[in-house]
Amino acid sequence: MSRGLDPRFMQELKAKNNIIEVIGGYVALDRKGGNHWACCPFHHERTPSFAVNEAEQFYHCFGCGESGDVVKFVQQIESTDFMGAVRILAGRAKMQVPESNFDTEQAIKIKKKRDNLAAILLDSAKFYLANLYSGDSRAEAHLEYISRRKMTPTTVKKFGLGASLDFFELPDYLAGKGYSRQDLLDSGVLTEARSGRLVDSQAGRLIFPIINAMDEVVAFGGRLLEKTDFAKYKNTKETMLFNKRNTLYNINLLKKLKREQPIKDVIIVEGYMDTISLYQAGFKNVVASMGTSLTKEQARLIKRYTENVYISYDGDFAGQKADLRGLEILDGEHLNVRVVPLPDGLDPDDVVKQGVEAYQACLEKAMPLVDYKIHALERKYDLSRSEDKRAFVAEALKIIAEVESASVQEELLKKLREQTGISYQSLERDLRNLSKGKQVEIVLPQTNISEAAASADKSSKAARFILAAKLFSAPYAKSFDLSRLLFENEVHQTIARYILETERAGERVRPSALFEILDEQCPEFNEILDLNYEDKLSGAVAERFFLDSVAALEGEQLEKTIARLSAEFSNETDEKKRKEIAKELQEAILHRKRLKK
Ligand code: UTP
Ligand code: MN
Repeated sequence: MSRGLDPRFMQELKAKNNIIEVIGGYVALDRKGGNHWACCPFHHERTPSFAVNEAEQFYHCFGCGESGDVVKFVQQIESTDFMGAVRILAGRAKMQVPESNFDTEQAIKIKKKRDNLAAILLDSAKFYLANLYSGDSRAEAHLEYISRRKMTPTTVKKFGLGASLDFFELPDYLAGKGYSRQDLLDSGVLTEARSGRLVDSQAGRLIFPIINAMDEVVAFGGRLLEKTDFAKYKNTKETMLFNKRNTLYNINLLKKLKREQPIKDVIIVEGYMDTISLYQAGFKNVVASMGTSLTKEQARLIKRYTENVYISYDGDFAGQKADLRGLEILDGEHLNVRVVPLPDGLDPDDVVKQGVEAYQACLEKAMPLVDYKIHALERKYDLSRSEDKRAFVAEALKIIAEVESASVQEELLKKLREQTGISYQSLERDLRNLSKGKQVEIVLPQTNISEAAASADKSSKAARFILAAKLFSAPYAKSFDLSRLLFENEVHQTIARYILETERAGERVRPSALFEILDEQCPEFNEILDLNYEDKLSGAVAERFFLDSVAALEGEQLEKTIARLSAEFSNETDEKKRKEIAKELQEAILHRKRLKK
């Protein structure tokens, strides 16, 4: 529950870190009613819907649904993991994290290794940095390249750029620091040459340090200064510190930006240079996926900062399937995706070099993902040829059919009419036929599904209400014995078990204890918390609803029991057993009659 840490330590940690003080250190809290309020630091908003409950020591935003205890808050705001947050809070309370006592030997070893690699990366970054302005004549090429790419000294410093001057100086320097050969190799900073000698894996290149949200250098991107047959960029290999899937270039500065202002949207570009140029031009809300198709991990990372993303890839990426897949991934993580159209053959760096306004104009032309899909599709066809036009329309209608909103569909159909000259009525009829064809097969099950869903929804609502009333100690729920009910939903079961165990132990039920028991992201729990914040748990109406909910769930369970018993009864051949089942069945039916009254 406290993930390997002594529960007593966790208790003390939380006691010494009052959630009001900790959160108050990040956002201004305003006391109103029983709660402290602020604009949510996790999503963009103008009126406060982020509430902190001092008595229960947890926060909840009913704008975006984020909620948790003090540890979770620090985890979210510092974009760190559980142990990272524990360390920060321990530091704040001047407590010692009981690492050696409670971490396994294995975990200590891993941590030590990680620390060693991080130290090597940091030392190397400093070494490269010092090279750049050392006055060494071999660095002239790097400086010349920097000025050709129009990076100012301030920018160079901000991004910690550096220079590798040859194969051997870095290994010599690091050897002097006493690192083991294995750690040097495992850090990816050095590689073994055929001779067996260790060499700088970025020899001769301009160095772009890749820094994570915790401000640790985890890898380097290195660019060749001249055009050759070799790949122009080379990244440090994947290591214990560096996993491309969950890394975004410039996430460190984005995190700093978030401390200064809420982040409305983030621009995702492909490359190092795109990032740096946009940043320098004042578009500081930029990160790079570093050339690959976007991953789920990267999408989730971005979601810690904002819901709104601009995809700003090279002007000609439209035809590349991999990139569209990346966009679908963002969409799948419920980010609002807009695609920035750039002139063919140009990347954001090229455009912003023409002027801030030039890039701003592209941003303003950004299209929602569906529009972009149709736009990308159009480029594959020559609409002046009628076969092409037909194929294009058929494909475009398939995309439009996936759109849920009718008004967006209408808008898209109108655009399609402009593009093709086909009348709106024909397009609409084709679209309808297309969706009809799709629905026919599922029409029957769908009605069943929706009926079942409606009833399931009703019982979930009842279950949530009962659990919320118990959790927040509503007076009318106090004497109700939860063990009378069986919950179907796993989260409900867990919460019910916690309540029952706590009551049995004669302790106070604390909603915040559940943050340690349930998964980090638990929308179902958030729904239950919402009931308290929306003040739905007190008063006569609430009490009535509670009783109705109990009756509804009990009734439902009874129906199930009756159905099960009747099936058992008709399948049973043993006379004695049949009698026993009949008796049970009769009791259940009597119970149902009583309930109905
Ligand atoms: P681009 O080829 O678009 O490079 O690759 P760029 O950033 O515009 O480079 P400049 O302007 O020529 O300097 C985009 C990103 O893909 C990764 C890098 O992260 C690069 O910034 N990449 C590209 C590689 O990792 N290796 C390569 O060989 C090329
Ligand atoms: Mn470029």
